Amino acid sequence: MKPRRLCLLLAVLALALSGCGTKKSTAQPDPLLHAYDVEPDWSNPDHLFYLNYQQAQGKRIFYDKCVWCHADSTPAGPSNRSNLNPMPALANDGSALNSLSDDYLRNIITLGGSAVSKSAMMPPYGKTLTQDEIQAVIAFMRAIAQPPYQPPARPGPQYSTR
Ligand code: HEC
Repeated sequence: MKPRRLCLLLAVLALALSGCGTKKSTAQPDPLLHAYDVEPDWSNPDHLFYLNYQQAQGKRIFYDKCVWCHADSTPAGPSNRSNLNPMPALANDGSALNSLSDDYLRNIITLGGSAVSKSAMMPPYGKTLTQDEIQAVIAFMRAIAQPPYQPPARPGPQYSTR
């Protein structure tokens, strides 16, 4: 084949392969492409939450340490939650947790319930988890909250008891 013809053939082939712009993809962008993990909505299994990196880290920590008391079912079966008095809030309970500041959540998770005059059955994690890990688990709880969590328009005071 003459080199000219070969060039022409290649050009035609390239055009054909590129589709000449005739077919436009109608596929929806896959939300999972930008998510590190998903968590089903605990109050509506048909709905999924797509988790960013920090929230996905928090999920891992939550299912390791917290699920036993802050969920109704665990990877090992029914949870301990209903045996506790007071009964710990479900981790997705926005009506209980949305009004509490990140500072407050950080405090109770770091120092334990007794440090903030809550049940001492809430263990302190300040020596088990780093502050980044505690922030990640808070991010996970915020991400799965129902009703959804709205961050405050302005950051609250640095120290708060609620
Ligand atoms: C052994 C059971 C247990 C485990 C494990 C546990 N918690 Fe708790 N948690 C409690 C109890 C009990 C309370 C206090 C409820 C009260 O006094 O109203 C509580 C309270 C809380 C609160 C405050 C909620 C409120 O309504 O004031 C947060 C936030 C929290 N826990 C997060 C966590 C996180 C995050 C983990 C894992 C790192 C965890 N808990 C592990 C039992 C537990």
